[in-house]
Amino acid sequence: MLAKGFLFAHTMGRSGHPRAPTGNSHPWKQWLLNLYNFCRGDGAHEHSLPPREKLGSVESVYIIDPEDVALLFKFEGPTPERFCIPPWVAYHQYYQRPLGVLLKKSGAWKKDRLALNQEVMAPEAIKNFIPLLDPVSQDFVKVLQRRIKQQGSGKFSGDISDDLFRFAFESITNVMFGERLGMLEERVDPEAQRFIDAVYQMFHTSVPMLTFPPDLFRLFKTKTWKDHVAAWDVIFNKAEIYTQNFYWDLRHKRDVNNYPGILHRLLKNNKLLFEDVKANITEMLAGGVDTTSVTLQWHLYEMARSLRVQEMLREEVLAARRQAQGSVSAMLQLVPLLKASIKETLRLHPISVTLQRYLENDLVLRNYMIPAKTLVQVSTYAMGQDPTFFFNPIKFDPTRWLGKDKDLIHFRNLGFGWGVRQCVGRRIAELEMTLFLIHILENFRVEMQHLSDVGTTFNLILMPDKPIFFTFRPFNQDPPQV
Ligand code: HEM
Repeated sequence: MLAKGFLFAHTMGRSGHPRAPTGNSHPWKQWLLNLYNFCRGDGAHEHSLPPREKLGSVESVYIIDPEDVALLFKFEGPTPERFCIPPWVAYHQYYQRPLGVLLKKSGAWKKDRLALNQEVMAPEAIKNFIPLLDPVSQDFVKVLQRRIKQQGSGKFSGDISDDLFRFAFESITNVMFGERLGMLEERVDPEAQRFIDAVYQMFHTSVPMLTFPPDLFRLFKTKTWKDHVAAWDVIFNKAEIYTQNFYWDLRHKRDVNNYPGILHRLLKNNKLLFEDVKANITEMLAGGVDTTSVTLQWHLYEMARSLRVQEMLREEVLAARRQAQGSVSAMLQLVPLLKASIKETLRLHPISVTLQRYLENDLVLRNYMIPAKTLVQVSTYAMGQDPTFFFNPIKFDPTRWLGKDKDLIHFRNLGFGWGVRQCVGRRIAELEMTLFLIHILENFRVEMQHLSDVGTTFNLILMPDKPIFFTFRPFNQDPPQV
């Protein structure tokens, strides 16, 4: 019998193990969409073969059970590889752009990654980010206070997604360069806004090129390819300008009594060539905008729909503030439920629909032999919605991550990936989002302006399928009597 967790039917393979077949010759978009439909419960189901199509020639096996995921990661090698998005590879190759950790492989990846880990993942590095990130969240509170004043009714109702994108960009640039761009002021620099728009466009225009080879789009000079190239060009050019300006400052006039930001540290410790530093800064800037802002939007959405959870989180935050007596880093140790709520948001709303790994060696999962080099995809979105793996999965319940029974969360917290190739921005993102939520909870009650369900759309990363309208009320104001 086919074990729960395999999406595909099986055939016999080598070494006496039935062989988990891979979906030969169906294009990526179809897979991702099938998977996405499967997750939503209206597409392919567990035992069915995926539809076959003529274009594309990638093989893939999907897994969903945390026990299988544990084995996949246990046997991943020292330089794991995930699926590289074809239009990204095509752009970098065609325009000879330098690669950072996102697209590098084997030893070259490892070298960059170790240098980055020291500056962006190590706990000693992370504590330096608190004084850079906390003021950005405080400024976000001021943005909302300004909006409340402007609306003149003691509250603010509206869609804040653009503000969240600016918040995320202000945060990531401040930790990278140690300098504020002013994205949360009333007037924002249109050039910086172009970067934010370009990152969105880069993700968005990738989607059609998952269906057919990007070279076709290029050869036929399609709008999709041109828009994709234009988006990457803005990302690279702007990152280059930011980095060059900074480099000039560094050589001429910088005093470095305070922590000077990640770029400075990468340049000073001399582990990477300037080209590699630039490539990685570019990727981290691009990786740091839509990811945290969309996750925060979902977090606000979940809190606005579960007011009881919102109250619990607020109580924890207010108590932590009192107990920490002014120390933000002490406070961060006193908000376990808030941290669990971020895991819970990523369970229901992961940024990526799957995690992927190419197998280094043959791997036997539940008696199925999956050959080396096969692409295995972990269906994180589907897992997060599945009652087999999460009790009452539709409920936003951060406490599920804090229970004593570790089996209930074993290999389920996968929002940032896993292992040595997990998200390199994880610690920045966690800190940035925790500080943001602390300040929001201390200052506002968050409600939905209209109680309607928001769906998820596949924009390469998963996003809300429509604008979400929130109402923010200053915390000291009582909610309306219903
Ligand atoms: C809520 C926020 C974020 C989420 C949910 C997220 C999620 C992910 C996931 C799932 C991966 C793949 C991990 C794997 O294959 O195991 C990844 C990789 C990556 N992320 Fe993030 N990310 C977030 C924020 C950020 C930020 C702020 C940055 C910028 C520093 C960033 C930069 C990257 C890069 C460069 C990689 C590739 C790493 C490598 O291949 O070595 N991400 N992210």
